[in-house]
Amino acid sequence: MMNCKIEFYQQQYAVEVYKFFEDFQDYLVNLDPLKRLKRIPGFGEKVLEKTVKEVAQKQGVFYVALVGDKVVGFVVGVLEGQSDEGLLNAHPGIMGRVTELYVDDSFRGQGIGTKLMSKVEQYLKRKDCDYIWVEVFLPNVKTHDLYKKLGYQDRDIDMIKKL
Ligand SMILES: CC(C)(COP(=O)(O)OP(=O)(O)OC[C@H]1O[C@@H](n2cnc3c(N)ncnc32)[C@H](O)[C@@H]1OP(=O)(O)O)[C@@H](O)C(=O)NCCC(=O)NCCS
Repeated sequence: MMNCKIEFYQQQYAVEVYKFFEDFQDYLVNLDPLKRLKRIPGFGEKVLEKTVKEVAQKQGVFYVALVGDKVVGFVVGVLEGQSDEGLLNAHPGIMGRVTELYVDDSFRGQGIGTKLMSKVEQYLKRKDCDYIWVEVFLPNVKTHDLYKKLGYQDRDIDMIKKL
């Protein structure tokens, strides 16, 4: 188990974190059997900006994992209000969503992802969420397995057919 500390994201980590958003997108592009995904120039900066805004709007949390003073991963969780449509077909509740999780390739498999998930879960629990949702790209089998190991179960399956 790698000794890392978890802190709130701050502007000083921006360059390291947006590079990770780009590595993350490259990782997904590589996994995509349909070759639909791509990474545009400036992707990391744009996604980081959008993420920081969303965290502020949705009472979210953005944690980074640090080994020494190097950022090695991050996680983002937000609160989702229940839509009017949701209230028609489900019991009322506060829903949490993990929107991002990433650990630097060379630091994987040492418990950092699990630690980040546990921190974000504690946060969402403190905010009175009754469930946590997380989406996973089906070809991302290792991550799907990790979520199952952490107690998540499959809920929706999004299907696709090429025309
Ligand atoms: C998913 C991810 C955050 C896990 O981080 P991590 O620090 O390796 O996680 P942990 O060490 O706590 O747990 C490792 C477990 O994750 C899984 N895993 C997923 N990808 C892995 C990888 N590349 N290397 C090692 N383990 C990986 C394994 O099932 C492993 O289980 P094990 O410990 O029983 O062998 C990391 O692999 C990652 O950033 N992947 C790419 C981005 C991604 O898929 N993000 C989630 C999007 S939904």
